[in-house]
Amino acid sequence: MRLRIKAARIGTAVAITASGLALTATGASAQVRYLDPHASISARVADLLKRMTTEEKVGQLAQPAVVNMQGDCQWSGGALVDSCMQHVLGDLKVGSVLSGGGETPVNNTPKDWADMVNAVQKYAIDHSRLHIPIVYGVDAVHGHNNVLGATKFPQQIGVGATWDPQVSEAMGESTARAVKATGPQWDFAPVQDISRDTRWGRFYETYSEDPYLAGELGAANVRGLQKTGQVSATVKHFAGYSAPFNGHDRTESHIDPRYLQDTFLPSYKAAVDAGADTVMVNSGSINGIPAHASHYLLTDLLRRQWGFKGVVVSDWNDVDALRTSYHLTDTYAGAVAIAVNAGVDMGMLPPGEVDGFVQGLLDDVKSGAVSRHRLDEAVSRILALKFKLGLFEHPYVDASKANGIALGADKDLAVKAATESQTLLKNDGNVLPLSTGIGKVVVTGPSADSIPNQDGGWTIAWQGIPDGVNDPGVTVYQGIKNVVGDHAKLVTNADDAVDQTKSADAAIVVVGDKPGAEGVNDQELPELSADQQDLVDRLQATGKPVIVDVVADRPLVLGKAADAKQLLMSWLPGSEGGTAVANVLFGKANPSGRLPVSWPKSTGDEPMFYQQLNGTNSGTSSGYDPLFAFGAGLSYTTYAVQGVSVSGGSTVKVSVKVADTGSRDGDFVVPVFAQLPVSRILTPPNRLVAFTRVPLKAGQSTTVSLSFPRSRLAVTQGDINGSGTRAVLPGQYKIVAGDKSTDLTIN
Ligand code: BGC
Ligand code: BGC
Repeated sequence: MRLRIKAARIGTAVAITASGLALTATGASAQVRYLDPHASISARVADLLKRMTTEEKVGQLAQPAVVNMQGDCQWSGGALVDSCMQHVLGDLKVGSVLSGGGETPVNNTPKDWADMVNAVQKYAIDHSRLHIPIVYGVDAVHGHNNVLGATKFPQQIGVGATWDPQVSEAMGESTARAVKATGPQWDFAPVQDISRDTRWGRFYETYSEDPYLAGELGAANVRGLQKTGQVSATVKHFAGYSAPFNGHDRTESHIDPRYLQDTFLPSYKAAVDAGADTVMVNSGSINGIPAHASHYLLTDLLRRQWGFKGVVVSDWNDVDALRTSYHLTDTYAGAVAIAVNAGVDMGMLPPGEVDGFVQGLLDDVKSGAVSRHRLDEAVSRILALKFKLGLFEHPYVDASKANGIALGADKDLAVKAATESQTLLKNDGNVLPLSTGIGKVVVTGPSADSIPNQDGGWTIAWQGIPDGVNDPGVTVYQGIKNVVGDHAKLVTNADDAVDQTKSADAAIVVVGDKPGAEGVNDQELPELSADQQDLVDRLQATGKPVIVDVVADRPLVLGKAADAKQLLMSWLPGSEGGTAVANVLFGKANPSGRLPVSWPKSTGDEPMFYQQLNGTNSGTSSGYDPLFAFGAGLSYTTYAVQGVSVSGGSTVKVSVKVADTGSRDGDFVVPVFAQLPVSRILTPPNRLVAFTRVPLKAGQSTTVSLSFPRSRLAVTQGDINGSGTRAVLPGQYKIVAGDKSTDLTIN
C-alpha cells in the first residue's frame, strides 16, 4: 500500500509507505528537515517543533493505555475500536500508547501483538497532520512476559542471585528482540529499586538489597535492551520506591538525605549512566513530597547533576494522584502543572484519564501555569526519542515474522539464567546432588507442577497467569522427570506424599507462594504458610532425604521448615525454571547462585539488610542476624580465597587469588567488601565494592583482577541533617574477599 497525501503546511509531498514516511521528490528540492534521516536529531526536532500547534504539542505528553481504544474503551480490552482511536489518536493527538500488565490483543500471539501495534501506529500516523508516529510502551520485565508462548526469564530477584551482568545483558538483548518483533519500542524495565523489606509486594521485581549489585545488573540490562537502538529501556521507579514505611506499596517513605544518597540513588544512577533513554517516577512520597511533585528529584538531581537527557514518564495514574490521593491541588490542571513543572515529560494514563490530562495541560499552557518553554522542552525530548528509535523511517514491524522471533525464543539463555540463579543454602551430609540413577523420588508441594507459581506476577496478566490459561514451560516436576523418567512420582495430596515418601529414596518438596503484583501482593506476614511448614515437617519425620525447594518471590520466613537439611532457593525462575532446578538437584550444574538479599529468621526483623549499622544494644537480633546472610550460597565443590591485595589511587585495583579446592568444576562468585572500622560517620560494617564470577576447574587456582573507583567509598558528610557533600573519608580501610583481607590507607 502506498498512499500519497499533501502535507499542507510543509509544501512538499510526503509519502507514507508500508515501512514509513519518506520524502519524495516532487520537482521542488524543498527539504523537510524533520523527515530527513540524515539530519541530526536536534535539527529534526527543532524543525518539527516549529511546525506543531499547541494542541499537537500537548498531545505528545499523553500516554494512554491501549484499553482506551479497545472494546468498551475503558477496561474491557478486546478489538480496537475506530471511534475510540479517532478520539484518542485523532482528536487528542497523543504521543504514546502503552500496554499495561495483561493489556493484550484478543488473541495473545506475537503476530496479533504486531498487528495491534501496527494498527494503532497506522491510525496515529494517518490522523496526524505531520504524520508523527507514536512510541509504544510495555512491561517486558522478565522476557516479553505479557505474550503467550514467549519465553519467560527469571524475575529480577533471581537475576540478582546470578551476580552475572553478562547474563543480565543477554536477557536484555533477547527481550528487546521479542518486544520489537511484536511492535512496541519502549520497555518499562529494569527496576532499579533496592529491596530491603520483604513485606513489599514488588520485592521480586528488584535485583538486590545492595546498591552496587543492583546498579551493575541494571546497567548491563539497559545496555542489552538498547543494543540495537530500536528499543528504549526505563529506569524505574525513581527514586526510593521500595522503602514504604509500612511495607505497603505506594505509601509514604522517609529517607533521610544520607540514606537516600548513599544507598538508594546509586543503583538508578548506574542505569542512567549506562545510557537509559527513559526514567519512570516513583508513585510514593518521600519525606512528605510525592516524587511526581519533586523538582529536586526530577530536575535538580536527575537533569542538572546527573545530566540525564531522555524522557521522564510518570507511573500509572500518578499525575492525577497529585490531586486525588495527595491533595496537593483540587484540579486536574493543577496536578498536571505540578508534575510537568517538577520534571515529568509524559503522563501514563489509565482509562478515563486521557481527556482530563490533555485538557488540563492545554489550560495550563493557556494560563501560563506551564510555560511554553517547558512544554517545548518535554515535547523535544519525546520527539528526540522517536527519532532515535527510527520511528519516522520505520514505524511498523513485519507482523508475519513476529511468531518466529518471539515464540519460545532463547530458551537456552533462560535455562542458563535460571540455573545460575539457583541458590543452595543447606546441604547437610552432601545429600545433593542426587544420583540420576535414583529409585523412586516423590515430588510434591504446591509449586511442584505450577507454571503460574514459578513465573510469578507480570506474566500474561498483571497479577500472573490467570486460572485456565496455559502458558508453556517446564515445571519442576517435569524437569525432574526429564532426568529420572518414571522414577519421579508427582503426589499432590499431603498425606499421600508422606506415605509414599516412606517407600521412596527421597522426596523433593516444592514450597513457596502464589503469583501477585504491586499492592495486591504486599504481605504483612511474609512467611511460608503453616500447611507448607507442616508438610516439610512430616516429610522429614519419615527419615528419608527431603529436599526443600523454595519457589517464591521473596525469602519467606520458614518457621519449622528452617530446619530443612537440604534447602534450595529457586526464586521465580520463569518458564524454563524446572530444567534449571533439575540441573542443580541432579548435579548437571554446580549451583553458583548467591543471595542478593538477606534472608530473615522471623517476621518483624524487617527491614533486613547486611549494611545495617551497629547500635549500642546487644539484645537478640538487635544487630544483623539473618537466617542466611547476603551473599550466602553453597556449591558441590569447595572454594578458597587464598589471598587479596590492593593498590590505591583514584582507581583501586584488587587482586584476588581464588581456588577450586574440591573435585568439581564450578563458577565461584566472589564479592569484595570494603570496611572502615574506625570512621567519623557511621558507615555500613560491610559495603560491596566489586564482584566477579570466576569459572574454575576442579583443583584450579587463578588470580582475578578487579577494580573500582575510589569514589565508590564516598559517604554523605555532615550532621544528622546530612548537609555535607559526598566524600571519601580518610582512614584505614579493609578490603575483604572471603576470609582474606588487606588494608587500604586513604589520606
Ligand atoms: C507500575 C509500573 C508499570 C506501569 C505500567 C505501574 O502500576 O508501577 O512498574 O511500568 O504500571 O504497567
Ligand atoms: C494495569 C497495570 C498497572 C496497574 C496499576 C492494572 O490494571 O494493567 O499495568 O500497573 O493497573 O494499578
